[in-house]
Amino acid sequence: MRTILLATDLDKTLLGDRDGLSRLNQMLMRLRANHSLKLVYVTARSIESYNELIQNESLLVPDGLITSVGTEIYTDLTSQKLSGWPNPAGWDVDFANGQIAALPGVTKQPAAEQRDYKISYYLEAGFPAASQVRQLLGNNYEVIYSGVKYLDVLPLGVHKGSALRHLSAVWGIDNRNVIACGDSANDISMIDGNKAIIVGNAKQELLEWLGSSDQPESYRATGHYAEAIIEGLNHFGIG
Ligand code: GLC
Ligand code: MG
Repeated sequence: MRTILLATDLDKTLLGDRDGLSRLNQMLMRLRANHSLKLVYVTARSIESYNELIQNESLLVPDGLITSVGTEIYTDLTSQKLSGWPNPAGWDVDFANGQIAALPGVTKQPAAEQRDYKISYYLEAGFPAASQVRQLLGNNYEVIYSGVKYLDVLPLGVHKGSALRHLSAVWGIDNRNVIACGDSANDISMIDGNKAIIVGNAKQELLEWLGSSDQPESYRATGHYAEAIIEGLNHFGIG
């Protein structure tokens, strides 16, 4: 039997409707009992922030956890990072911070959100500031602008999508059996080229990208949050 890897963002994708989440969890538990599903959460949150979140939300224990926008991967419950990921080239934190700090309308996020391979800011100035950062850093970094006010800078080639590909390769799961679910621009890298479920409450920034990109395997759900994932799994014939 083929194994499906269901990779889902947390905030505003899996989380947002507790009744829907409870229905989805029932479905996922049934699928997992048949050994036909691996569940991976892919979040921008840090591992510490994830550990706080699970105190308040009924989340199933996943098989894998990708945090800090793809820069950290965890595959067991010991909070031990998967070694060998990422393998960044040209990552110069001091240079990147120095360039960004000089811009107006840009504030550094709290220390807990600054990771070994992720630096994050709030942008009061929105999109123009994100473009300026892209110009200042050249093509040597990933610059991800999402949720109107968030800016994440990561090593080139490191993001939710590449982390997910790395993990599926480690597990020997073919990309055709990966389904990615998301709602915002920092989910684009894992939706791009994959089977994907776009929740009905997806942000405009994600819908704009979808409109300008050919994604024949993306399913745009009408339901919101976890209900959208149930709808999408049914669409892909899983259930
Ligand atoms: C989460 C993270 C933050 C990041 C944002 C967008 O809020 O905590 O660091 O900038 O998502 O990816
Ligand atoms: Mg989200």
